[in-house]
Amino acid sequence: MGADAERPLRLFFALWPDDDTRAALDRTGKWLHKHWEGRRTRPETLHLTLVFLGAVAATRLDELRELVAEIRAEVFTLHLDQAGCWGHNRVGWLGAEEIPSALAELVADLETRLQAGFFRFDKRDFVPHITLLRKARCAEVPDCRPVDWAVDRFVLVESRSTEAGVQYEIVGEWPLSTSAVEMPVGS
Ligand code: 2AM
Repeated sequence: MGADAERPLRLFFALWPDDDTRAALDRTGKWLHKHWEGRRTRPETLHLTLVFLGAVAATRLDELRELVAEIRAEVFTLHLDQAGCWGHNRVGWLGAEEIPSALAELVADLETRLQAGFFRFDKRDFVPHITLLRKARCAEVPDCRPVDWAVDRFVLVESRSTEAGVQYEIVGEWPLSTSAVEMPVGS
């Protein structure tokens, strides 16, 4: 086995925004930056973490992909209406006051499968948020225009630290299902 195959990967499951949602999130990041300064998240790296695994042996990547491919979660809309800034880590973020049940179910399903497959992951309570600022000077939360995100897939991401900063590569992608029943015309 080559050295590369033995290298552990830093992995997490996430929601990855479409172009319009990314642009809207970036606008909110700019707005919050006016209030809290700090370092803005580069638009191409904006995401919402579902489950953070950390180091995983590269040899287990296929096993991990197979484990979650069976998930049959529903599409949902995430109404991002709550900005905040955490004093302990100086992260400025956008989140949702109400977590859609489909999102909570998706995370619970991922965690159950990871546990069954003996993958380690961060078991902290799920607090859905998109990090928009780091090293922010947290102060009063300004009014923010909500962002509606139509979520139709989840992804597995590899995080790499490079001299140019952290780089993310999507190494797996799974669609969520629509169970909308089509009504016959004229009914
Ligand atoms: P954050 O944005 O709040 O820092 C990649 O690091 C992603 O995984 C980030 O979205 C990060 O959240 C999240 N994450 C969750 N738990 C983590 C942990 N224990 N270490 C690093 N990142 C973690």
